[in-house]
Amino acid sequence: MKKAFITGVTGQDGSYLAELLLTKGYEVWGLVRRTSVFNRERIEHIYLNKKNENFKMIYGDLSDSSNLSGIIYELEPDEVYNLAAQSHVGISFEIPEYTSDVVGTGTVRLLDAIKKSKKKIKFYQASSSEIFGKVHEKIQSESTPFYPRSPYACSKAFAFYITRNYREAYNLFAANGILFNHESPRRGENFVTRKITLSIARIIKGLQNELTLGNLDAKRDWGYAPDYVEGMWRMLQHNKPDDFVLATGETHTVREFVEKSFNIANIDIQWEGKGANEIGINKSNGDVLVKVSEKYFRPSEVDILQGNSEKAKTVLGWENKTTFDQLIEKMVNADIDYVNKYNFIYK
Ligand code: NAP
Ligand code: GDD
Repeated sequence: MKKAFITGVTGQDGSYLAELLLTKGYEVWGLVRRTSVFNRERIEHIYLNKKNENFKMIYGDLSDSSNLSGIIYELEPDEVYNLAAQSHVGISFEIPEYTSDVVGTGTVRLLDAIKKSKKKIKFYQASSSEIFGKVHEKIQSESTPFYPRSPYACSKAFAFYITRNYREAYNLFAANGILFNHESPRRGENFVTRKITLSIARIIKGLQNELTLGNLDAKRDWGYAPDYVEGMWRMLQHNKPDDFVLATGETHTVREFVEKSFNIANIDIQWEGKGANEIGINKSNGDVLVKVSEKYFRPSEVDILQGNSEKAKTVLGWENKTTFDQLIEKMVNADIDYVNKYNFIYK
């Protein structure tokens, strides 16, 4: 039985990856942090199910090298998936030093523990399309130069290079997955897609009056998280370590995401005004449902991301499965259920 160790198991991707690896017969160990309030909603359905006796949790933190090296020494996993991060780009401007420590130095801590292990351990690094930032090419691939635009992206760029460096210097099986945005009903509530779908569910239930956003013109390549964790696993099953882009190949504005999400709830949005004064109105009754606040603008923005995952398709046989419209439908419907039931269990 293969043993996997996942950092960030309580996060969106960690929870889907744990499910995937369990179905493939792995013993899965997830790193969890001590928190004053339990934050294990995304993995509760896994560890409360007696059938998942191969799922185990272990306390730790990416800021603690002695803890990480102790875990690698004790567990001797076959595969390590480093998904832990302060992953919010906007918030990284508020806490740049912490973000760099966890996202950047945290990756070296883990790589170094793996390097010292007697076992040949495969390592997956959760790299990000944010490293392309102020893009040098219209469509970004593994060969596009980096131009990071936030403390988060700068830290991910460092983590990318240090992963590649450990691969070249110490012959580690270390792979970077350069993943474009991927979403799901388990997405954190302060990322734009989930903020939109949860707000819409609350608006139609009468629990919220309006949705306040930042830059409506930003464009992203949005996929569906369960499709992407399959790609992570494939990278570690390949016969040699390499770096791969996972993306849908399409790009859409935040504005489009808002319009389509409201459409699922049979509401048509009409836009009026410009910049911070722009509003989105319910066409049928004139209610203001969307506002813009400069509070959500970023000091330096990534205007557009659009990925080319041809290499992952050719080498790994990975392809995006879920369309933009299907993703929106899944998220809006899940949030309508969530708000209706309140005791929502992540699916
Ligand atoms: P997420 O939902 O924000 O989850 C982040 C995870 O990291 C959580 O389990 C969190 O634990 C953990 N974590 C944060 N700080 C930590 C620390 N100091 N020590 C140990 N664990 C810590 O992120 P995600 O969307 O699943 O993304 C997974 C990874 O992929 C991240 O590295 C992210 O930067 C990267 N990525 C994501 C996307 C995307 O679109 N989702 C795209 C490209 C790359 P708590 O639950 O305790 O906070
Ligand atoms: N969060 C947020 N909240 N973003 C907003 C808002 C808002 O109210 N209004 C507009 N946006 C814009 C942001 O300025 C950004 O251009 C875009 O919506 C997407 O923002 P996020 O959903 O926060 O995601 P992100 O693209 O910055 O980062 C995500 O994707 C990266 C991969 O490209 C995160 O998951 C990162 O961890 C990941 O690396």
